[in-house]
Amino acid sequence: MLKRGRQPERVNAIANSSSEQQLKESFETFATPHLRAVVDLDALRYNLRLIRQSVADHQEIIACVKANAYGHGLRAVAECLQGDGVRWLAVGSPAEAIALRRWGITCRILLFPTVGNREDNVLAASGITIGIQSYEEAEAVARAVNSPVSLFLKVDTGLGRFGVSTADAASVTGRIVSKLPSVKLDGVFTHLPFSDVNELPWIKDRMREFGRSVREIRKHVKLPLVVQAFSSSGIAFGLKAPEANAVCPGQLLFGIEPANVKNPDQTRSLGSRAVLQEVSTVLGGLRRIPVGSKFGFGGALVALRETRLGVLPVGFSNSILVSREGQVANLLGQIAPIVMVGLEHAVVDVTGIPGVLEGCSVTLLARDSTFEITLDRLAHLQQRRAVEILTSLTAKAVYEYVEPECRPVP
Ligand SMILES: Cc1ncc(COP(=O)(O)O)c(C=O)c1O
Repeated sequence: MLKRGRQPERVNAIANSSSEQQLKESFETFATPHLRAVVDLDALRYNLRLIRQSVADHQEIIACVKANAYGHGLRAVAECLQGDGVRWLAVGSPAEAIALRRWGITCRILLFPTVGNREDNVLAASGITIGIQSYEEAEAVARAVNSPVSLFLKVDTGLGRFGVSTADAASVTGRIVSKLPSVKLDGVFTHLPFSDVNELPWIKDRMREFGRSVREIRKHVKLPLVVQAFSSSGIAFGLKAPEANAVCPGQLLFGIEPANVKNPDQTRSLGSRAVLQEVSTVLGGLRRIPVGSKFGFGGALVALRETRLGVLPVGFSNSILVSREGQVANLLGQIAPIVMVGLEHAVVDVTGIPGVLEGCSVTLLARDSTFEITLDRLAHLQQRRAVEILTSLTAKAVYEYVEPECRPVP
């Protein structure tokens, strides 16, 4: 259970009691000792249930936990999902795939196609399913690995990032199946994210094309095939791909709905809950700036009244803050402007907040809208996507996992 101390003394006590553990973790992970990210695993389970209810019963859920589980911490998220019955996880880097096995994750793991050295023999020995995009790549895997290896073929339906074309997918499958006996082609998948109802006609057209391609692919494959067509956006918009028997949600698991920034009215929401509950730090270095004094980088700021500043031990290199004006923090329930963001520190103007003491907790992001610093608001202020902010926590935050309450999906 998260302790929500808002009184300075209480916050101080909490900060001190966890500081030893935070320091230890930060040495091991290069995290910032005083950047605390609170992750609500119950919200993750809630979103998983929501997704399960939104797709047909026979649809396998391949939970996409790439990029350190979208910045929420891969290990705890993977353990939580596996514990909740997820049978497939998908990651984007060989290191993450291997790390999952080292941590004792036993469910199936799909490594998406990637660029660079993959160490296929290590992956295969760890029972990782390797995503490939051509016959040549399948052949190279078969050559590198002495034992049977599981592969998924990625089909490019229009994103233009990875995958064999829909036109060539069946013939590539035929060659893999007939010429590479050590390869087990277990699945076919695609990825075509979108966020706007106006994009639906194109998406549906591309998915019909994927369906045709899958029907041709199946003529070459005798064994059951996992076929995955949709990620978060397809699920949130309730799309159906008749040939598919799996979905691969990522963002939606963490409460990020496909957001249409230009046309919010055309955004579809499934009602998922933000899994990141709060990001906070501590206040130090309180000082007074006399009225009329210049301060800040190059003396760019002027104290229009006697000003009280505090220092945060987080800057643009080690937190979710960016070097841009307009960001705010929440102290003792009140909003304070962040007036400077440097490499490792930021300065907050606490003039209007009586009772602020050094050691006081400073909230940089909270899903509770009463803090006035929700992810959407921060994304707007920083002019970057919500998922960019979340993933910027990786290797910076010390994570705290909480399970506040179990709420049934309505
Ligand atoms: C191949 C693939 N499938 C699924 C996903 C999950 O997408 P989303 O986070 O939009 O659900 C991703 C994420 O980038 C991906 O690369």
